[in-house]
Amino acid sequence: MAFDIDMIKEVYARMAERVDTARDLVGRPLTLSEKILYSHLWEGKPTKAFTRGKNYVDFAPDRIACQDATAQMALLQFMQAGKDKVAVPTTVHCDHLIQAKEGAATDLKHANDVSSEVFNFLESVSNKYGIGFWKPGAGIIHQVVLENYAFPGGMMIGTDSHTVNAGGLGMIAIGVGGADAVDVMAGMAWELKFPKLIGVKLTGKLSGWTAPKDVILKVAEILTVKGGTGAVVEYFGPGATAMSCTGKGTICNMGAEIGATTSTFGYDESMERYLKATERADVAEAANQVKEHLTADPEVYANPEQYFDQVIEINLSELGPLLNGPFTPDLSTSVGPEMTEKATANEWPLQVEWGLIGSCTNSSYEDLSRASSIAQQALDKGLKMKAELGINPGSEQVRYTAERDGILEVFENLDARIFTNACGPCIGQWARYNDPKNAPKNSIVHSFNRNFAKRADGNPNTHAFVASPELTAAIAIAGRLDFNPLTDSLINEEGQEVMFDEPTGWELPPKGFDVKDNGYLAPEEDGSKINVVVNETSERLQLLTPFVPLGDTITGAKLLIKAFGKCTTDHISMAGPWLRFRGHLDNIANNTLIGAVNAYNKKTNFVKNQLTDEYGGVPDTQRAYKAAGIKTVVVGDHNYGEGSSREHAAMQPRHLGVAAVIVKSFARIHETNLKKQGMLGLTFANEADYDLIQEDDTFNFVDLHEFAPEKQLTIEVVHADGSADTIKVNHTYNQSQIDWYNEGSALNLIKKENAA
Ligand code: F3S
Repeated sequence: MAFDIDMIKEVYARMAERVDTARDLVGRPLTLSEKILYSHLWEGKPTKAFTRGKNYVDFAPDRIACQDATAQMALLQFMQAGKDKVAVPTTVHCDHLIQAKEGAATDLKHANDVSSEVFNFLESVSNKYGIGFWKPGAGIIHQVVLENYAFPGGMMIGTDSHTVNAGGLGMIAIGVGGADAVDVMAGMAWELKFPKLIGVKLTGKLSGWTAPKDVILKVAEILTVKGGTGAVVEYFGPGATAMSCTGKGTICNMGAEIGATTSTFGYDESMERYLKATERADVAEAANQVKEHLTADPEVYANPEQYFDQVIEINLSELGPLLNGPFTPDLSTSVGPEMTEKATANEWPLQVEWGLIGSCTNSSYEDLSRASSIAQQALDKGLKMKAELGINPGSEQVRYTAERDGILEVFENLDARIFTNACGPCIGQWARYNDPKNAPKNSIVHSFNRNFAKRADGNPNTHAFVASPELTAAIAIAGRLDFNPLTDSLINEEGQEVMFDEPTGWELPPKGFDVKDNGYLAPEEDGSKINVVVNETSERLQLLTPFVPLGDTITGAKLLIKAFGKCTTDHISMAGPWLRFRGHLDNIANNTLIGAVNAYNKKTNFVKNQLTDEYGGVPDTQRAYKAAGIKTVVVGDHNYGEGSSREHAAMQPRHLGVAAVIVKSFARIHETNLKKQGMLGLTFANEADYDLIQEDDTFNFVDLHEFAPEKQLTIEVVHADGSADTIKVNHTYNQSQIDWYNEGSALNLIKKENAA
């Protein structure tokens, strides 16, 4: 069995005591989110109440899930920890590295040809360290997690931002960077700022053309792409309980698009039905016994304003189908005349060229069945597709069942292309054009979550609109962005005017789910004999070697770059074509800081090499210092390292020999990542000292041998003319983080402790 019922029972067994204790400490009824958070504290039973949005808290997640792109570096790092097995149940899912082009059979074979090295590596590491492995074609990580691992009241982390999808089954599930996942795999705590709470009360009932997708499209309109930042969104009310479990998953999934830490729903009958349908009646039974802890205390939903930081109410009976986009998921437009008006004013192409149904957001059996009911009507009413249609089923189980039930055949009869059970166009793995950069302006509609420029097909001129699967199908058949299926008719092949009836579908397959090979490979019980082989000449994978401690004497360090203005993790380690090297530290290091603006000439990737006085790219210059045995310093502005939790942004400079990053302020996750890699992440005690740093500066750390918590460090900055400034820098290292520094990295320390 893929999931661990004993672990789930353990979580439930301790829940009552922890929830009761937390309620006493907090001194008021608890929301569901708080119950889950307080029952997953690293310290065990709660001993104090936390301030939302303020306190950093150590948690002990129940599970970890990784996708194939992010898992590479995460597992390479985990291999450094010296452990025999992962400390927490973990799975790896191969879904990102599969391109959509011809259709599932050809595309999957192609992916297995071009990425076999990565897939084989992930499979053997998984097998060795007790990690469940889902083969290419098994499905999209978040659908597979919902079908197999998510459970009400659980906490999981995943190395993908849409990990939040598991909130549909009542979890607190959060997307993290690889470094965080590695910590938990290695048996360490996971830290999170105790989130704020947004309550969304759903009244009324979905009907007709309105789907769960429209709920989150509406929430995105209300909260915008930033409105959920630092908060858990908790949905409740009669509209919530009336909705399917996978529909709840859709809503939670797109919580990532409003910046929310995660979203969740209280345990209800829809979840029980889903658990039973996915062969987890024992989980449902266990959940039923602790029901009261798997939803908020009754007072909370009766008076939400008293208990949430913000409350939104949406009447589902009044909600209509929406299209969000283009280029941002929070720009909502109602179907029909409003779209005609906006599209005309903004010159969005009204003709639609593709409809895409799938992604982790909307690829459940219910989604496919409702969309197919529209496709079937097109066949019955003699309508011809005006746009092309592509389908990515969420999992092999969904695909197999949908094929058995004739759903896929309906799409195929409309000449739709059935792509692999994988991310495909959702992550830009869509071979739509030979030259996407110069491709024409066009509109597409999809049921995915993200619609930023270039996201699906690499074409900056593609206007992507997000909609429910059923609306996506209707618009693709009509071929017009402003088609309103509630009021508009279409002319069929015989010249008759026809209209669509409302979509219909099944929440769950009437004959149950079925699958022949779900694509899961269980790991060996004892993996000690398994050899993980990485070819030394590989371009894409490279085993890591432990970082050498930087020591307590750093003198003569040279300035590598003084970054001007915004310097995000993308500026430090670009994505795009570099994604291919995610598992090869030395190769991906060739993009280090190439996006950062040099404060002295305002150019990118053009810095002075103090050894030769010549200018060159940042990685080359840094490699020259490294070859000469000279450490370097990076200087930056405010919020250095904002953006993502990408650990490469810390590992690459470390690999190349940067010793310290001194900035006006850090994005916190990046600061922690620098600490984990055994580097110095420091802030100017006096921000104006940023201006003192000159292009030819040399740094001498005066009192690094006294590195201690809450103690400033002193640096002598020697300028080219021989003059010097002595500056003070602050840091936020606690003693264990100083131990990481002393050992060379957090993983080195874990390994040492493990060996002891
Ligand atoms: Fe994959 Fe797109 Fe989801 S990339 S994990 S389907 S957001």
